[in-house]
Amino acid sequence: MLQRGMLRPRAHAPSLLLASVVTVATLTACAPKVTTPEPDLIAQQVDAWMAEMTLEEKVAQMHGTGVLAVDGLYLTATNERLGIPGFAMSDGPRGLTATTSTTFPVPMARGASFDPDLERAVGEVIGAEAHAYGANVLLTPCVNLLNHPSWGRAQETYGEDPALLSRMGVAHVDGAQQSIAASVKHLALNNIELSRFDVNVNASPRLLHEVYLPAFRAVVREAQVASVMTAYNSANGAYCSENAPLLTEILRDQWGFEGFVESDWIWGTHNTVPAVTAGLDVEMPYPQIYGDPLIAAVEEGDVAVEVIDASVRRILTVKASFAMDDPAPRDPSVIESPAHAAVALRAARESLVLLRNEPAAGATAPVLPLNDTVTRVAVVGALADTDNLGDTGSSASYPSTVITPLEGIETMAQARGVTVDALATDTLDATAQTTVANADVAVVVVGLTAEDEGEYIPLFPGGADREDLNLSAEHVALIEQVRAVQPRVVVLVEGGSAVVMDPWITDVPAAMMIWYPGQSGGTAVAEALWGDLNPSGKLPLSIPTDGGQLPLFDNVSTDITYSDLHGYWHLEAVGATPRFAFGHGVSYTTFALENLSAPASTDADATTVSLTVDVTNTGDREGAEVVQVYGGAPDSAWTRPLRRLLGFTRVELAPGATTTAEVVLDVDMLRHWDETLGQLVLEDVPYTLEVGTASDDLPLQAPLIVE
Ligand code: BGC
Repeated sequence: MLQRGMLRPRAHAPSLLLASVVTVATLTACAPKVTTPEPDLIAQQVDAWMAEMTLEEKVAQMHGTGVLAVDGLYLTATNERLGIPGFAMSDGPRGLTATTSTTFPVPMARGASFDPDLERAVGEVIGAEAHAYGANVLLTPCVNLLNHPSWGRAQETYGEDPALLSRMGVAHVDGAQQSIAASVKHLALNNIELSRFDVNVNASPRLLHEVYLPAFRAVVREAQVASVMTAYNSANGAYCSENAPLLTEILRDQWGFEGFVESDWIWGTHNTVPAVTAGLDVEMPYPQIYGDPLIAAVEEGDVAVEVIDASVRRILTVKASFAMDDPAPRDPSVIESPAHAAVALRAARESLVLLRNEPAAGATAPVLPLNDTVTRVAVVGALADTDNLGDTGSSASYPSTVITPLEGIETMAQARGVTVDALATDTLDATAQTTVANADVAVVVVGLTAEDEGEYIPLFPGGADREDLNLSAEHVALIEQVRAVQPRVVVLVEGGSAVVMDPWITDVPAAMMIWYPGQSGGTAVAEALWGDLNPSGKLPLSIPTDGGQLPLFDNVSTDITYSDLHGYWHLEAVGATPRFAFGHGVSYTTFALENLSAPASTDADATTVSLTVDVTNTGDREGAEVVQVYGGAPDSAWTRPLRRLLGFTRVELAPGATTTAEVVLDVDMLRHWDETLGQLVLEDVPYTLEVGTASDDLPLQAPLIVE
């Protein structure tokens, strides 16, 4: 349980699980830091405010002030009489939404970095820019699990595995809360767009605690997130905004959450008394069920004053903890600073996932990286020269400048004396086809845009859930047209989720997932093509050979029940081999893992166990590898995935170098939820630890028993 007063900005406090392996982000030069008041002072401040407030003033703290954002910020009321600041909230999963800002690769791309240290730096930048702009609450991160890649908002989360989601969510909040309160979203079971306002999602207690809630739990317990946003949908029969099991029993009683709960926007609230008694503190963005209806409910005796007081105390405690009344002027010059741009470039570099890199027909060396024999490159596809940053819904963020893939390639080519034939179109006429044939290599950029996937907002243009996982027929035809005249083809795929690449993938020598790579994506892509950068990203999701390998994605029913297995857990259980497995990503160098040293046993109450393994860069280029550790329990009495991710560590190695990588394993990922005991329990059976560099490439094993 957290102690009162622990709800504070996290000045230089790395997360519990990663404390031993992660260095704190080195971005201190540009991020403003919240000066955290002492716990006693916070309590005194809150007591003083509470003592003076009327019922109307208290209730005014509990809702937003307008349906529209003001200068990009959603506001709650300032109490001028008592000097209580209002909240000023902004979105920002890929960068601050409220204004022109540093724009990162989308969270799914950052999930591919498997680098919480990077995500901490990203959170720190977005939080610093939000604070500099005048916000005091950042509406990130989204840690809803990707249970199907068709979800329109896949790009806003970090992937399909709870352990990955947990580490990235904790890191993001650690970074953001250096400057500002973060609001993790959307609690819970929000994994569909089209039916999101209407659907009731049924999930067993085991599914909740073992699969869909662990990332929220980690962000609450390890990062002490200041706020939680509820989901639009219902969970197990009750709207999430009035769901007492979620908001009180689990969030507050079990996890010790001390911050405030806010609703999702406009369509997220329904009934006054159930919401306030379940623990919804703030209705956003304007009062529909709070405000006058809430005052009336108190006056009529339907809601006790103590319930209001408890909510308002939680709100005021966050305000005091984050010194939101600090009158010091903000410094907007940090927004889009060169230091922040450097983090966006680092994120773009680490996000790239080289899916495949084979020799072209008749050659012996893989087609990438491009070498000095390449003097002419054809760059094909309309997306090659499109600022394709991701969804245009609430996660939209726009920078002052974007480097498209074509621009990045042109800059790099110029420096190397290489000629670029720019064919930024999706249809090639005969002349263009001859140009492609005459080039030494063709780089084809295809994929998705905000018209194909994104947040579903009624009356707003843009895509929602995907209809299927395929590339458009036009893009498949473009690849085939290029391939017909040019054997040396590199396909760059943009998008925020899985894209089916069969059957064309086996016919092209190289393909790289570049996601929505943010403002510097083109630079990173060009570096990777010529080998100045060695791609190191790993898939945070599975790419099936066909959408039919995955369970049905139902985004129309209003009552659905989640199944036990999804993503790679499902694929492994049914014996389906995906095109690219969870955790997959190749490199221009090779790595060998040996000397696994794992503990033989774990304490039944342990939070973490650590193992070490020697990683050697056996190739001739510098590179980074992600050591991944999975766990399974073949003799378990419970239905479980064959293996699930327990922990991971990214290491960077010079050619020939060896390092001993330490991987901290989250033991909760092995536990099952015991509904009778109301807690996670480590079953007393033998466990198998598997260590490698992808979920389908795990050469080392070690047993683990419970003491
Ligand atoms: C989204 C939230 C977002 C909010 C405010 C909602 O529609 O679901 O993720 O934070 O709008 O923009």
